[in-house]
Amino acid sequence: MLFYIQPPYERKFTLLEKYLIKGGMPLKGAITVSGAKNAALAIIPAAVLAKGVTTIENIPDISDVNTLTDILSSLGARVERPNRSTLIIDSEELCSCTVPYELAKRMRASYYMLGALIGRCQKASVSMPGGCDFGVRPIDQHIKGFEALGIKVTIDKGMINAESDRILGSHIHFDVVSVGATVNVMMAAVKARGITILENAAKEPHIVDLANFLNSMGADIRGAGTDVIKIHGVDILHPTDYSIIPDQIEAGTYMALAAATGSSLTIKNVIPKHLESITDKIRAAGCEVTEFDESIRVKSPQRLKKTNVKTLPHPGFPTDMQPQITAMLSLAEGTSIVTESVWEGRFKYVDELKRMGANISVDGKMAVIEGVDHLTGAPVKATDLRAGAALIIAALCAHGTTEIEEIHHIERGYEGIVTKLKKIGADIQKIQLPDDMQSKAQ
Ligand code: UD1
Repeated sequence: MLFYIQPPYERKFTLLEKYLIKGGMPLKGAITVSGAKNAALAIIPAAVLAKGVTTIENIPDISDVNTLTDILSSLGARVERPNRSTLIIDSEELCSCTVPYELAKRMRASYYMLGALIGRCQKASVSMPGGCDFGVRPIDQHIKGFEALGIKVTIDKGMINAESDRILGSHIHFDVVSVGATVNVMMAAVKARGITILENAAKEPHIVDLANFLNSMGADIRGAGTDVIKIHGVDILHPTDYSIIPDQIEAGTYMALAAATGSSLTIKNVIPKHLESITDKIRAAGCEVTEFDESIRVKSPQRLKKTNVKTLPHPGFPTDMQPQITAMLSLAEGTSIVTESVWEGRFKYVDELKRMGANISVDGKMAVIEGVDHLTGAPVKATDLRAGAALIIAALCAHGTTEIEEIHHIERGYEGIVTKLKKIGADIQKIQLPDDMQSKAQ
């Protein structure tokens, strides 16, 4: 029997927490990547598909994981965190299939509880999710997939309700490549009667990781990592022990940081294969990239070269690296073009980079970056998670001091970023202004 332990780490953030970063310090040495956020956010909900105690290792210590463990606890699961990177989830007994607004609003991936709870209890109610604001984030492909499996979906008063007497395998062709729809439908289909085929499925490394996790619970999923996934439904899944993959985007962020700051950095705990599209662009910008079994070294030249980048679903260049590569290219010689083809509203942070002296103009899905020879520290605001990472990169390159506000976005996805960056020589502090300074600060 496990006991729920209130995690001892900080959970509440106020607008008055900031990062104070002094740019221009030489960065060197090694930085270690944590477990993959987006894999953890799919695999933790999937743990409820089996009754009993599942242990998941290499969990990143980030606020999105805390939100998910709060959600699982609210459903009656017992969650223990014996150390920073391990979660033990006992989902023998669940007392609810409803995820309320107060919890769901804190993160986008709360909607993965739909697929997981349908697979476990044949019904689920989850409030419409929150998460990063990149413009419209539809869920029509999730609903299309669920309905094809015989699951009735209704949306009422902000809640998505899903229910089925019998989940039946089906042939589903997604109209767009969606990570979320692939994850959600996969979790419901593992317990379906019969065979499900998902066509035009997402191929991201965390889709493969979720499939491996589910297979280790007794599921029968083949083809994950290609665009056709075949799932033979099974009646029962059993608890498992599993270690999740390293975070591809965290690794890419540190690669872009090394490149932008003119540093030589070794990035440890990576799967170089997952980084190929990023490595390709970092090399195109003039860096030397050396791949080892579980690490990668980036050595930056005196001045970066212009490069064009277009985001695409995996194995293309990830949209979650778009702000960081834009920050990097703002210091490259010449004109670079970055095209965003996954999300409509993902250039909001560009105004913040411009406050630091970047010369970038955005026209719809395209950013035209005229490289400048330096950036200047300024007060800026993280508009979302990866935008925040881009501002950290810019701040570490800039002349003078940058204050980054709204850092709760960054802490949703980067474990121990201040500690990790300090270890490689960065001058970064997290500050908290006392309440009486709030009015002065505004
Ligand atoms: C996931 C990632 C997010 C990343 C994104 C794309 C997680 C927790 N989040 O988000 O960090 O930026 O993949 O790599 O893993 N779409 C539809 N209908 C749908 C679903 C999606 O039209 O039902 C569209 C979206 O508007 C978007 C594109 O498909 O243009 C990709 O979205 P999707 O892959 O679903 O992103 P998320 O799973 O939300």
